[in-house]
Amino acid sequence: MCGIVGYTGYRQAQPVLVKGLYTLEYRGYDSAGIAVETPEGLRVVKTKGRMKTLDEKISAAGGLAGTCGIGHTRWATHGAPSDLNAHPHLSQDGRFAVVHNGIIENYLELRQELQKDGFHFKSETDTETVAHLFQKLYCGDMVKTLAAVIKRLRGGYALGVLSTGNPGEIVCARRDNPLIVGFGEGENMIASDIPAILPITRRYAVPDDQEIVHVTPQGIRFYSLDGQEITHEPLTADWDVASAEKGGYAHFMLKEIFEQPRAVRDTVASRIKDGLPALDEYGLTDELFQNVRNIHVVACGSALHAGLVGKTVIEKLARVPVSAQVASEFRYSDPIIGPGDLCIIISQSGETADTLAALREAKKRGARTVAVCNVVSSSAAREADGVLYTWAGPEIAVATTKAYSAQLAALYLIAVRAALARGTMDEASARAFCAEILALPGKIESMLETRDEMDRLAKLYCDRSDTFFIGRGIDYAAAQEASLKLKEISYVHSEAYAGGELKHGTISLIEQGTLVVALATDPALYEKIISNIQSVKARGASVVLVTNGDYQSGGDVCDHVVHLPGCPAELTASLSIVPLQLLAYFIGVHRGCDIDKPRNLAKSVTVE
Ligand code: AGP
Ligand code: GLU
Repeated sequence: MCGIVGYTGYRQAQPVLVKGLYTLEYRGYDSAGIAVETPEGLRVVKTKGRMKTLDEKISAAGGLAGTCGIGHTRWATHGAPSDLNAHPHLSQDGRFAVVHNGIIENYLELRQELQKDGFHFKSETDTETVAHLFQKLYCGDMVKTLAAVIKRLRGGYALGVLSTGNPGEIVCARRDNPLIVGFGEGENMIASDIPAILPITRRYAVPDDQEIVHVTPQGIRFYSLDGQEITHEPLTADWDVASAEKGGYAHFMLKEIFEQPRAVRDTVASRIKDGLPALDEYGLTDELFQNVRNIHVVACGSALHAGLVGKTVIEKLARVPVSAQVASEFRYSDPIIGPGDLCIIISQSGETADTLAALREAKKRGARTVAVCNVVSSSAAREADGVLYTWAGPEIAVATTKAYSAQLAALYLIAVRAALARGTMDEASARAFCAEILALPGKIESMLETRDEMDRLAKLYCDRSDTFFIGRGIDYAAAQEASLKLKEISYVHSEAYAGGELKHGTISLIEQGTLVVALATDPALYEKIISNIQSVKARGASVVLVTNGDYQSGGDVCDHVVHLPGCPAELTASLSIVPLQLLAYFIGVHRGCDIDKPRNLAKSVTVE
């Protein structure tokens, strides 16, 4: 978590840093700060709270004049959100400023050592140890000093450091946490993510783990820990500044919900060639699918929910065993995975610590790994044997919508290719199925038309304190995602249950007025879920049904019905989720919640 930014060049650093931090605020938003090299030495302004508070505090301080600086927006791990714990942190002598994303696991040991050396700590953070250690090990050369510092660190980090002894220089390094450097003309930047550098440049590079990067206005140089120079070819970001802005929508989440047709189209269109999925270049060859023993889908949160849909679809079409597992459990479960198995990890950010650890575990055990991920050149993309990017574009809202939809689309392609390779689907059926996948964007478009209806339902139900989502099969997987959306942005307690499981205990929680959202999109299971609805209705629940069945509203069983356009049972999650994202969104809005930055969350969870 945490957003890091740094600038050195000919412009005033403060506005560049502040603007950059606003675009990184999705990464953490409990405190923020900047440090700028001024003629009087390093000046720091930092505060508990959002960027807006920092912006006001900087103005009240009369601004910070200087052309080199670093900034940070925090998601606290060590020490509560407070002015003192906010980054940047200064060394005792005030000559070094540090911003950090991640966790220094041996910080207690380092803290004790530094205290013995006479250093006094002002904050409770693990980060402050780095500032003092930098002072202790400083040799006049920033690159050498940072190399010496990181040799002492355990854990994960992205670090940016300034020194009064080296004006105009920033050094940075990363380990298991994201960091990019942006190449400008006479000015250069560091950042946690691309949007922060876009006002200056689109050319960037991603340093490898434990490389030291030396950034000055004249250039950016990369070094290994033992001082060997390394070269990186710059990449070009295809984001434009507008993709990091709301474009007239009230929130990024709403904008991103409406971008789903495009996200799905971009993810599938270029991968369907001559009517069939062509996935060889992503490491997903027919040979792999023909010989694969088991497929393990591993992810967290919404990405796992996409994986649950993927499991059902791949098993159904390709008849190969697929497990979908929580990454943080997988890695410590002594998993039964090895040569002959395929591990598909799914991650929007490609930086989720638990997912990366699972990827490494699977690789270590000899499985082939493929990442389905959205952020180009992210750690997952770089470490997996193959990568199938979801082309959802930058996702800013903390609650994912379009990346989830793009993940589903990528998994459908994998399912069809695997089925073709394994001979469980003939070519004609595969072509027909691909045509249905290509028709999804248009159908998602029609689901977006439920916007006003979902707003109306949200007004009716926004005061309910408990909600249950029920479904069977793929609908159960989609229900889990719908439920997570509601709880994360509206803070309404919500649970997803397999329709048939509710009666085994949870039904005791249903009372007059409890909201139950039922998904019934598989004709084979339709009547079963209607029976489940009957039993909650009989106990006083208000029921919203999402279905492509011919159930008519106004009856005595469901209070509201949302109809989906017809599509194969395997693809319905892509449609049923859309009105439920909108319902969650509007319930959050009517409850006055902070939609794009829900409490306690951060977009990219880079800690275990
Ligand atoms: C989604 O709305 C959540 N905020 C969260 O569950 C997220 O999906 C999860 O943290 C995984 O993130 P990733 O896709 O970047 O790995
Ligand atoms: N560990 C640091 C802190 O608590 C950085 C936190 C993070 O990257 O999320 O301040």
